[in-house]
Amino acid sequence: MTGFPQDFLSVDDLDADQLVGVLDLADTLKTTRGSPRGDLAGRTVALVFEKPSTRTRVSFQVAVTELGGSPLALSAAELQLGRGETVADTGAVLSRYVHAIVIRTFGQDRLTHLAAAADVPVVNALTDTEHPCQALADLQTVREEFGGFTGRRLTYVGDGNNVAHSLLLAAAKVGLDVDVAHPPGYAPDADVVARAEAIAAGTGASVRVTTDVAGAVAGTDVVYTDVWASMGQEDEADERLAVFRPYRVTQELFATAADDAVFLHCLPAHRGEEVDAVVIDGPSARVFDQAENRLHAQKALLARLVP
Ligand code: CP
Ligand code: NVA
Repeated sequence: MTGFPQDFLSVDDLDADQLVGVLDLADTLKTTRGSPRGDLAGRTVALVFEKPSTRTRVSFQVAVTELGGSPLALSAAELQLGRGETVADTGAVLSRYVHAIVIRTFGQDRLTHLAAAADVPVVNALTDTEHPCQALADLQTVREEFGGFTGRRLTYVGDGNNVAHSLLLAAAKVGLDVDVAHPPGYAPDADVVARAEAIAAGTGASVRVTTDVAGAVAGTDVVYTDVWASMGQEDEADERLAVFRPYRVTQELFATAADDAVFLHCLPAHRGEEVDAVVIDGPSARVFDQAENRLHAQKALLARLVP
């Protein structure tokens, strides 16, 4: 294992040992929640949101607090960022006050520009390209359910988006087979897929990207989906409805997965669009465990990342 990176901008910033180490600590923090910790004692962590958030915002605020630090949640509208100050200047200035910056923004370039100008650790709380903190919680949830990753398969159904990208990289790193079944024209980024395939070649995982949703879900262990129109794509929502309809996780589709398969969704969900209510509200859904694990996984990440 090499040294822990300064920033967590992509799943790919962590090697496999570091990733599993964060998951192990997340499990420990979950079982020992309530025992006071001082990992972030005397530290302030800025939480900057240029897009809405429920889970990420609240779980990071609680995570920092439970590690003994002080969270500072800020929406872009409250900052000069919302009036055009650059992300680089924002990163440089915040570094003079706080000990880490967690940011949700649009392009990955905004994140990398901020991180380049910041002297403190920067965490990706979702960009248009990746959602790496989500992937940590997703892996924690899969491992809780099945006890490990080897020989298991996760099938992501839907848009080849930020969540799909981080899942591809994360699954490949830990040796979890991963399929992405997407509508034509909505494939994940080819560079991300190529990187996931290269990682998988070393871990023995398989990576498959396909438009054949029935083939990808048949016999799988985890069915995962996300919204059809992500934040910032609201004006595409109507045209996406028709294209994505064959990729809805219906009761009939979910029934073709393995007998002990579970359903995951990063949330927020649109029942009747990407998933039927009977699936997400049914006995195989683990979506609220998954949401809870955001807290534990992010506590583990911050404990490792923030000096
Ligand atoms: N899954 C997730 O990141 O949720 P929020 O947008 O509510 O933070
Ligand atoms: N793909 C979604 C994830 C939300 C947590 C979005 O970017 O809006």
